[in-house]
Amino acid sequence: MVNLPSKENKEKFVREMFNNIAGRYDLMNTLMTMGLDKSWRKFVVGRAELQAGGYGLDVCCGTGMLTMEQARTAGASGKVVGLDFSENMLAVARENIKDFVLRDNIQLIQGNAMELPFADNTFDCATVGWGLRNVPDVMTAIKEMARVVKPGGKVISLDMAQPSAPVFKQVYWLCFEKLIPAMGKLWASNKRAYDYLHDSAKVFPHQAELARMFAEAGLVETCHHDLFGGVVAVVEGRKA
Ligand SMILES: C[S@@+](CC[C@H](N)C(=O)[O-])C[C@H]1O[C@@H](n2cnc3c(N)ncnc32)[C@H](O)[C@@H]1O
Repeated sequence: MVNLPSKENKEKFVREMFNNIAGRYDLMNTLMTMGLDKSWRKFVVGRAELQAGGYGLDVCCGTGMLTMEQARTAGASGKVVGLDFSENMLAVARENIKDFVLRDNIQLIQGNAMELPFADNTFDCATVGWGLRNVPDVMTAIKEMARVVKPGGKVISLDMAQPSAPVFKQVYWLCFEKLIPAMGKLWASNKRAYDYLHDSAKVFPHQAELARMFAEAGLVETCHHDLFGGVVAVVEGRKA
């Protein structure tokens, strides 16, 4: 049974949840993705077409991993902004970038994906990693990212998705139903967070539907790339 907070309560719930799990987030993310998250983030930044010297935005940046990946690509003459509304996730991000060689090229900002504090046409690209599933209104977040990207720039999401190969699909959902609650038990204090992870993934739009929403938000050349058999997907579009 799916048990999610209402749209009105989702922001408060999500922010408190990430504030609570911030200290363990990177470890759990690596374990749950079997370390594949790094290559998926690289793929996202490759698709973002960020150039050396470019100006990138990473929405729902969390602990800053995708933000740093953008910064590597933008290089010494580039600049990247990471935005998140969880103060504790941002605190971990600050710790993570402390010894990063390009730390001075990263700006971390506390803000809301539903109302980005930037002027229209500011960035060369906007990425969001495992973020759209967590916002109260996916379409508003996509439109906000599209608004702040310059014409020709890409908007890209990396998130959990829905595998489509028949047998793999059944096996995946079976494992997902068992694995996530087991993790919740293991980290008993965070059972609600793992229930939420499971429930939010179940109701998140299929990657093809998300690509259609990107188009509805006015983006062109929209498409999706299934990774790991569609367990996660990258959805992208370009501002005309
Ligand atoms: C699953 S984490 C992803 C972190 C990071 N992008 C990554 O690749 O690991 C989701 C992040 O989205 C943030 N978030 C959720 N809703 C948000 C919103 N409306 N505005 C800003 N940040 C939000 C949470 O605080 C959390 O840090």
